[in-house]
Amino acid sequence: MTSTSAPTTAAGPAPVRSPLPQSLAGSTVVIVGGSSGIGLAAGSLLRSVGARVVLAGRDETRLAAAVARVKGGEDGDVLGVPADMTDEGAIEKVFETAGRVDHVLVTAGSMGGGPLSETPRSAVEDLVAGRIWGAYAAARVAAAHLPAGGSITLTSGVYATRPVPGVAVGAASVAAVEAFTRALAVELAPRRIRANTIRFGVFDTPLARGVFGIPAGPEGDAAVAAAGEAFLLGRMGTAEEAASAAVFAMSNTYVTGTVLTVDGGLSLS
Ligand SMILES: NC(=O)c1ccc[n+]([C@@H]2O[C@H](COP(=O)([O-])OP(=O)(O)OC[C@H]3O[C@@H](n4cnc5c(N)ncnc54)[C@H](OP(=O)(O)O)[C@@H]3O)[C@@H](O)[C@H]2O)c1
Repeated sequence: MTSTSAPTTAAGPAPVRSPLPQSLAGSTVVIVGGSSGIGLAAGSLLRSVGARVVLAGRDETRLAAAVARVKGGEDGDVLGVPADMTDEGAIEKVFETAGRVDHVLVTAGSMGGGPLSETPRSAVEDLVAGRIWGAYAAARVAAAHLPAGGSITLTSGVYATRPVPGVAVGAASVAAVEAFTRALAVELAPRRIRANTIRFGVFDTPLARGVFGIPAGPEGDAAVAAAGEAFLLGRMGTAEEAASAAVFAMSNTYVTGTVLTVDGGLSLS
């Protein structure tokens, strides 16, 4: 069960450290959703600045491949722990395996939906449950474990403020994560734990390729480039560009309660 013994206040104000990503060297970051896409890219970025990385996801084969990729052929302090983020007990085990945890990034999530008239509630219940209760489980466990100066970074998408037809439930669930983040920031501030969300535009990841019906690997690259021509900057973002925003939210010790939009200007177009 999740520990409830965490102190309710920290002694003194929030710690100050360099806000550069390098200040994360030696800290431990749990990435729920770290076996693919933006979470995997965050793992590699964090490893490159000397953080210890713990990746969590459901598919064990994909997780093992992600651990090998983040290690990059070197002996590195990178762990993979299988977990479904909707299972609070499984997330607790991730933290117990990790030992001390300083920061948590939750990128796990999926997209889906459809027009209201063709989409019964049963078709979108898992989407809502995963997004909201997954964030809730991760935040509850994180709140019980993180030290003063720790942070929680969650994930939303531009549909929260710029929906298109057919995404109503997905838009509502990412908007809920944004509201949840602001409430978390207020509730956890006395413990000097920060909470933020990154609101993503469209990034070239397995998830986005699936949504656009684009094949994985090099054979899909031309289609990614073609789909990206419609965007303000003439392309989709890369997973690393998305992930670096999460690294910013972790490393800047004065950012909390913020929804940071990283969308290549999609909100403007
Ligand atoms: N890429 C975009 O253009 C875009 C745009 C807006 C928002 N987003 C959001 O950004 C986040 C990351 O997207 P992405 O493109 O990196 O997706 P992705 O490539 O599909 O990666 C998602 C990761 O989350 C894990 N995951 C999914 N459900 C999980 C669960 N219930 N428990 C634990 N792990 C779970 C997946 O592994 P398993 O399936 O093995 O568990 C995988 O590692 C998502 O929340 C997505 O909705 C992405």
